[in-house]
Amino acid sequence: MLPASINIFEKAARKAGRILTRDFGEIENLQIQSKSVGDFVTSTDLKVEQSLLETLQYYYPNANYLTEESGVIKGKGETIVIDPIDGTSNFIHGIPHVGIVIGKIIDNEVTDGIIFNPILNEFYWASKGKGAWCNNKRIRVSKRDELTSCLIGTGTPFGNRIYSNYYKELNNISRLTAGVRRLGAASLDLAYVASGKIDGFWEKDLNLWDVCSGVIIVKESGGRVSNIQGNMWDPKSRDILVSNTLIHKKLIENLTLL
Ligand code: IPD
Ligand code: CA
Ligand code: CA
Repeated sequence: MLPASINIFEKAARKAGRILTRDFGEIENLQIQSKSVGDFVTSTDLKVEQSLLETLQYYYPNANYLTEESGVIKGKGETIVIDPIDGTSNFIHGIPHVGIVIGKIIDNEVTDGIIFNPILNEFYWASKGKGAWCNNKRIRVSKRDELTSCLIGTGTPFGNRIYSNYYKELNNISRLTAGVRRLGAASLDLAYVASGKIDGFWEKDLNLWDVCSGVIIVKESGGRVSNIQGNMWDPKSRDILVSNTLIHKKLIENLTLL
């Protein structure tokens, strides 16, 4: 049986997912605005977020909300974090690699999270102590322990973002691994580590809504979560490094020995 909060998050995500899927079929009519260079918002992001909030606020009327498009809604107790479309640039370009993200934070710890790709019907979820799952199947991180056989995800800077030392990090990791992937939705990068598709992932300057659900999904699948220096990740962290645990130390060495 699904934990109560996952049940509610799934209900919200599946309802909002129908809006996303409908609009994905008509992307030529999308209304797109640019928040900054390379950072877009579409009318779909706004509609999906409204639909999520409507369902979630029915079940959690008093919670705090942290959302990408509507900002902060003050309440008390737990915080529910929402990214209505993670991977908006993919969405705009007709690439079906997008996720609806809902996470729950209690006392600075992510306790529950879902990531739903309604186009591919992939529903990832985890709850503290209940494991990590995709569509009723338990997921686990990979067992690869040699960097030469590993695929590593990352997020390259775009627009006017500058990540200090990033290209040195990229060079170090590319030389030592089977390859680097830039898939375009940080939440799903974490879900892909959790399900053993890729073996590690790092990115800088992310928002909490990009990674909160992925953090609990990776932890519950046997993976490790830290910042790029190897220190503890917490909800205020902007940078993240996740892996199958086995290669974590090697990734930190190669990301910090510049
Ligand atoms: C973005 C994606 C992308 C990452 C960006 C995020 P958005 O989220 O997760 O992979 O590189 O930093 O902002 O804007 O599509 O919700
Ligand atoms: Ca995002
Ligand atoms: Ca978004």
